Amino acid sequence: VSARDNSILDPTARPNGDRILIVDDSLLNQELLEALLVEEGFDVSRAGDGVEALEMVAKTDPDLVILDIMMPRMDGYEVCRRLKDDPKTRFLPVVMITSLDEVDDKVRGLEVGTDEFLSRPFNRAELLARVRSLLRQRHLVEELDNAENVIYALARAVEAKNPYTRGHSERVARFAAKLWAAAGLPDEKLPIIRKGGLLHDIGKIGIADAVLNKPGRLTDEEFEEMKRHTVIGEEICRPLNAARGVLHIIRSHHEKMDGSGYPDGLAGRDVPVEARVVALVDCYDALTTKRAYRPALSQEKTFQILREETAQGKWDPWLCQILIRTFSRGREDFPEARDHLASQVV
Ligand SMILES: [Fe+2]
Ligand SMILES: [Fe+2]
Repeated sequence: VSARDNSILDPTARPNGDRILIVDDSLLNQELLEALLVEEGFDVSRAGDGVEALEMVAKTDPDLVILDIMMPRMDGYEVCRRLKDDPKTRFLPVVMITSLDEVDDKVRGLEVGTDEFLSRPFNRAELLARVRSLLRQRHLVEELDNAENVIYALARAVEAKNPYTRGHSERVARFAAKLWAAAGLPDEKLPIIRKGGLLHDIGKIGIADAVLNKPGRLTDEEFEEMKRHTVIGEEICRPLNAARGVLHIIRSHHEKMDGSGYPDGLAGRDVPVEARVVALVDCYDALTTKRAYRPALSQEKTFQILREETAQGKWDPWLCQILIRTFSRGREDFPEARDHLASQVV
């Protein structure tokens, strides 16, 4: 797949192909390379020395850098070292231009993290092959970065197997964000709340279908099996960088304020506010959608159940109050509840 094919397969790719930054203090060299790359459909920008190169990287966000070594102000080694040291540009491929058979150049280049070498005079076919191969790797790394999306797809796949839970995680994510905002809890945690909503039941992937989709009450043994989805979910997401902030939501979304929940039997303030929010809207969504053994409950009936369970000590009374008012009559302001909850966010 060439750079140009890539833009056809991937609608988010740059329309004119990948962006390549040429760094060389010789204008002639710049122009030679540029002509060659432009002809192949690449989008080319140029820099005349190392300092300018770093500025251009920040400005144009290239997909690959072709780097000369000997340059005024800052040489190619230093540019490469800085690019590879910066988490933002660590995976930006760097091709270093060396003179023929300069072993020392290569050793130094490798030390600073160069991905490839090219010797002058350029062999056109070799240059293009290396550039394309690096760009392919680059796109692979970008996709791996999106492993998060794979997990979301998995979460959707789990609930799609059961017609009664279809769309559940998306609704929980939306409702949780709505409740979080209505409670005046910090905006910067909203992405975590949404993510937690999307992923809270991901552990169901590890639960037997017979238990997961049983159209009726679960036996004690089956219920024990079902409870494991909290711990399994945390386990699945633990290695995932992108899910780091939501593990406690996944694990604790079935905890109750009175300690009667699972898996840890946390109570009161030990139940993270994030998990309380997701737990409550999780229950709200379950009650307001139909099940094999009962129709969807009306909002009135659902609120009544949530009130009763709150009176029994199961739900956070502040959140329950805000949910009922917000979900029935649109957003309102509850300064008292806000202050109370805000003090409990870590
Ligand atoms: Fe759950
Ligand atoms: Fe759920």
